[in-house]
Amino acid sequence: MQLSSANHAFISGGASGIGLGIADALAKRGVRVTIADINAEALAEALTTRGNALRGVLLDVRNRDQWAMAKAKAEEVFGPVDLLVNNAGIAPDGLELADSQPESFERIIGINMMGVYNGVVTFGADIRALGHGHILNVASMAGLSSERATSGAYSASKYAVISLSETLRVEMAPHGVSVSVMCPGLVMTNLPENTARIGGNLRPGGKMPGGLDPAVAGEMAVRGIERGNFYILTAFDRDEPIRRRFEEQLAAFAIGPDADLV
Ligand SMILES: NC(=O)c1ccc[n+]([C@@H]2O[C@H](COP(=O)([O-])OP(=O)(O)OC[C@H]3O[C@@H](n4cnc5c(N)ncnc54)[C@H](O)[C@@H]3O)[C@@H](O)[C@H]2O)c1
Repeated sequence: MQLSSANHAFISGGASGIGLGIADALAKRGVRVTIADINAEALAEALTTRGNALRGVLLDVRNRDQWAMAKAKAEEVFGPVDLLVNNAGIAPDGLELADSQPESFERIIGINMMGVYNGVVTFGADIRALGHGHILNVASMAGLSSERATSGAYSASKYAVISLSETLRVEMAPHGVSVSVMCPGLVMTNLPENTARIGGNLRPGGKMPGGLDPAVAGEMAVRGIERGNFYILTAFDRDEPIRRRFEEQLAAFAIGPDADLV
């Protein structure tokens, strides 16, 4: 998407981390941005240090009524949203699937997957009607392969975001709307703290073990949109598990049917 022609970006989970990095990278290019977040304090803090090109609105991405209200509030000031960034998310809960707590599994799916669906169903038809625009969904490397124990709910939610993005790309392309899916590697954000804040479980010692500066991740996301990339990555040395996964799938095709079954 040519960002010089973008009018208004709406970013869920935009008060912190990667979402805020994307907001800054867009504002730098002259795009008006609404950051939407469940954390009022973080919203206020983000807005105090930024000018009028950025506005904030409270939103729990699980709640479709709140999405409708947030959209109305945002568009009243900055006009039609033509760039939607579904970024809000919480961290893995550190539980093996056999030991998982249904409420924790549902919380992760509710925010990371249903939150993205809710964004698409709130804004998608209007963006499509504009005949131009972009939708960026933030998934994870964990959506490209899930060999890691104790990330089952998180990986499932992120696979779903990638799948939804693939379909959305096909559906939106005839209307001049592009779609991309960001699959970050480690980014040094407040993800564990923000997950705990809304009642989410965490892996023991759940701190980010380092990673990329979120401002750099935000800039990478925006450059990916400008370049028209569907997959936007931030870590480029994590291809082995993905290769293994595809090779195993292709090998399954190569087996072919047993002669007595066809
Ligand atoms: N940090 C990483 O290493 C990493 C890696 C891969 C993917 N991601 C993904 O990137 C996205 C952004 O995460 P981040 O690392 O910047 O974390 P972050 O915690 O800094 O930012 C996430 C924001 O989402 C908000 N949020 C959480 N639940 C919400 C809800 N129900 N409604 C509205 N807002 C909500 C939080 O308040 C926070 O401001 C997430 O989807 C995460 O899964 C992060």
